[in-house]
Amino acid sequence: MRAVAVTAFGEEPQLMDVPQPEAGPGEVLVRMAVAGLNPVDWRIADGMLKDAGPQSFPMVLGTDGAGEVVAVGTGVRRFTVGDAVFGRFWRPAKGGGSYADLAVAGEKDVAQAPRSVTYATSAAVPTAGTSAYNLIEETRAGEGKRVLVVGATGGVGTFATQLAAGRGAEVLATARTTKADLMRNLGSAATVDHTAGPVAEQVLAAHPEGVDILIDLVSGPEEFGAMTRAVRDGGTAVSTTGAADADALTEQNLRGFNFHNRPSPQLLEILAGQLDAGRLTVLVGSEVALEEAPEALQLSRTGRARGKTVIAL
Ligand SMILES: NC(=O)c1ccc[n+]([C@@H]2O[C@H](COP(=O)([O-])OP(=O)(O)OC[C@H]3O[C@@H](n4cnc5c(N)ncnc54)[C@H](OP(=O)(O)O)[C@@H]3O)[C@@H](O)[C@H]2O)c1
Repeated sequence: MRAVAVTAFGEEPQLMDVPQPEAGPGEVLVRMAVAGLNPVDWRIADGMLKDAGPQSFPMVLGTDGAGEVVAVGTGVRRFTVGDAVFGRFWRPAKGGGSYADLAVAGEKDVAQAPRSVTYATSAAVPTAGTSAYNLIEETRAGEGKRVLVVGATGGVGTFATQLAAGRGAEVLATARTTKADLMRNLGSAATVDHTAGPVAEQVLAAHPEGVDILIDLVSGPEEFGAMTRAVRDGGTAVSTTGAADADALTEQNLRGFNFHNRPSPQLLEILAGQLDAGRLTVLVGSEVALEEAPEALQLSRTGRARGKTVIAL
């Protein structure tokens, strides 16, 4: 079958022929309709998980996707052949990965796909949507809270903005001026142009008392430290890029942590329900063919991807 894979960590991702995977106990085999791209995909290609258990090569890249179940392993209860599913397809010991004609997922890593949206929309949701949902839960962003989302225009940020605003939070979203209207349409109360000067200073100029919660999706450790100046005494600061220094945050009297996503089938079902109810907007910025996936991964590396990128199989 066709797949975009690496032959070793650190190698360039390429389109290649790889053996078809099989569904083991508790797993489903899915004919992929669309895969979803996330920054973690190129990090995995670079070797991010090289010490994380058994791996087999060629390793098909990609965690997210949507498609139709074509076989079920023993013990599978929640799905039958023909079901439309979406979720996370990541079986490194079996060679990967969702950027392929067929992919295997654990029964608990997928859910019934939302009925009212396309596979392309569903495939854009699993990692970014569940991360955003957990970020909002763990920071308790909601009614009466002012929340600064840094990196708000990306995959996680567009979901986090909508989910926090939907719970009544006042969301300040970073966005270039060209994307300000888009973020307001997603529910942000105001935008801060991250290309126009230090974000923390701009926020404090408009809100001298600061924000209650910082959700930072892009900064490195130094920039994150500077960003926390915008958080009020006793507030919360979280990083998805490992930039938070717990000791430094405690000294500043902030509750802070590095976020690690814990996706679940229940979360996927909640997000599917919100999509079907029309309460969640998914911004698919580009849909590319499988052979264009290596180029799309390069664009993701620049941090300048526009909306979610999905890969049609
Ligand atoms: N720890 C975890 O469990 C976990 C889970 C999910 C994601 N993540 C990580 O979280 C990060 C975000 O993921 P994503 O999928 O949302 O990425 P993405 O879709 O590639 O989003 C990147 C966005 O960030 C914006 N941006 C870039 N530099 C910025 C800056 N200095 N200030 C403000 N905005 C900036 C970009 O907008 P412009 O191009 O307009 O600047 C772009 O819209 C990635 O590093 C990902 O690996 C971690």
